[in-house]
Parts: sequence; C-alpha cells; structure tokens
Amino acid sequence: MSKKIQLEETALENIMQFRPIQEMIEVTSNLYRLGWDERNGGNITYLVDEAEVQKYIDTTKVIRNSPMSFDGKELVGKYFLVTGSGKYFKNVQSDPENNLGILRVAEDAHSVDLLWGYSDGGLPTSELPAHFMSHIARLAVDPENRVVMHCHATHLLAMTFSHEITSKAITRTLWEMCTECLVVFPEGIKVLPWLVPGSNEIGEATAKAMKDFRLVLWSFHGVYGAGRTIDETFGLIETAEKAAEVYTYVQAQGGMKQMITDENFKALAKQFGVTPNKDFFEM
Ligand code: 13P
Ligand code: ZN
Repeated sequence: MSKKIQLEETALENIMQFRPIQEMIEVTSNLYRLGWDERNGGNITYLVDEAEVQKYIDTTKVIRNSPMSFDGKELVGKYFLVTGSGKYFKNVQSDPENNLGILRVAEDAHSVDLLWGYSDGGLPTSELPAHFMSHIARLAVDPENRVVMHCHATHLLAMTFSHEITSKAITRTLWEMCTECLVVFPEGIKVLPWLVPGSNEIGEATAKAMKDFRLVLWSFHGVYGAGRTIDETFGLIETAEKAAEVYTYVQAQGGMKQMITDENFKALAKQFGVTPNKDFFEM
C-alpha cells in the first residue's frame, strides 16, 4: 500500500457531519425559537462515543485544559459535546465551532481537556457541576443516559412564582393539564428551592434529585431534563412546559371547571403500563 493511500485512509472526516453536532444545532435553534433560551440562557451536555469522536478529531491534541471545582472521577475519559458559557443558542447554527466544544474529562478528574470548539477562547457552560453531577446520577440508574439539558422554559418558570412549589403540588397540576403527562413523566418533577446557579450546591441538589427524577425544576430559574437522546430529553421538557402553558391558560380563563379524575389516571397508568410516583398518587 502506498503512503498516499494510507494517509487518505486515516484522514479525519468533516466534523460538521458528526451527528451529535447536527442534533445540537437543531435543538438549540428550536429552544431559541421557542423563547426558552434568551441571550445565553440554557446549556446542554451530550455524552458521545470515543470511537465516533475519533473519526472527526485527533483526540491526542488537547487545545487547552480547564479546571472543574468538583470531583468527576466517574466520568474520567468520557467525551462530551457541551454548549459554551455565555454563548447564545441563537448563534449555534451559524457558528458551531465557537459556541460548542468537545471535551474529555481529564485523568485528574478535576479538569476537562478541550479537543474541539470554543474557538474564541471560551469555556464550557458555567453549569458544568449540575450537568456532570447529573450525568453521574443518571448513569447510575440508566447506563444509556446521554443527555442533560437546561433551559428557561417560560411557563414552568412562571409557575414557580404563582403555584405552591412542592414537587407533589406541581407534579399533580402538570399531570392534570394534559392526559399524556402521566405517561411521559410518571415519576413526576422534582422542585428545588432557589439556589445560586453554577454552584456545586445547586449541582449536588440537582444530581440528588436526578437519582429518582428526569425532570428537575429550579425555582425562579428554569428546568433540567435528562434522557437517552436529544429528542427524548427535549420531548420531556416540551411535554412538561406544554402542560405549564395549558395551566396558564386555564388560570387566565377562570380556573378549572372539570378535571381528569383519579379513576382516569388509574386507567391511563394501566393502559400504558406506567407506575405513577406513589408519593404523588396512590393507585
Ligand atoms: P452559561 O451561559 O454559562 O451556560 O449559563 C447559562 C445559564 O442558563 C445559567 O443557568
Ligand atoms: Zn439557566
């Protein structure tokens, strides 16, 4: 085999063909257009396969290393596609290489190696603690979990001001606003009090909740979702947010005159083979 042919065989493919980047462009554009990620609001982390990444980038070339304020030992050597801190979802489509980055959790478990992206010298999202701690929590209960997504979904956020903010009260209201909610998130949604964004404290509280819930609502801030794919995670947030929107309309229209009954919920759970969280609903 000639040297030239060998070189061609090992050439890297165009990173824009990397499916997770295409999915990230699509979802950030949709989140922006839905009005859930104003300015730099929101962040996404997507666990990607090493073998896949290596088709597109030379993973031996570290662009720079940035510290993490927490221990990520469970994630050492794992690769993530991550939105940049201070970057606008609006701009991901036109300039993915500046607004996204591909990271590997470094051997020291307290830093990340940048392998591609953040081309203006940027950093991964400031919410890396909440994301990585949530990945660790979700992977422990579902080894297929790959995505953690945070956004400022408008109606869910509004509900944390106007509604009683216990997990049970908000879950019950959301389930009641749309028949499919109980099927899509039978475990409900965990509501956290206001905490400082970007801190380890909010990361730890979110990750603790993520052991039992795929949806976590941050009071007066936004929502976190986790799932196996970008579509599944987006769909989860979208379903809860739609219910919160319906709730807003119901309130504006003068409140509930009739509702989905407990008997309806039982029939629904039976039909779809789901078990509603027993802390929120007695079967
Ligand atoms: P980043 O721009 O650092 O991702 O922060 C946005 C945000 O929504 C913080 O909660
Ligand atoms: Zn936020």
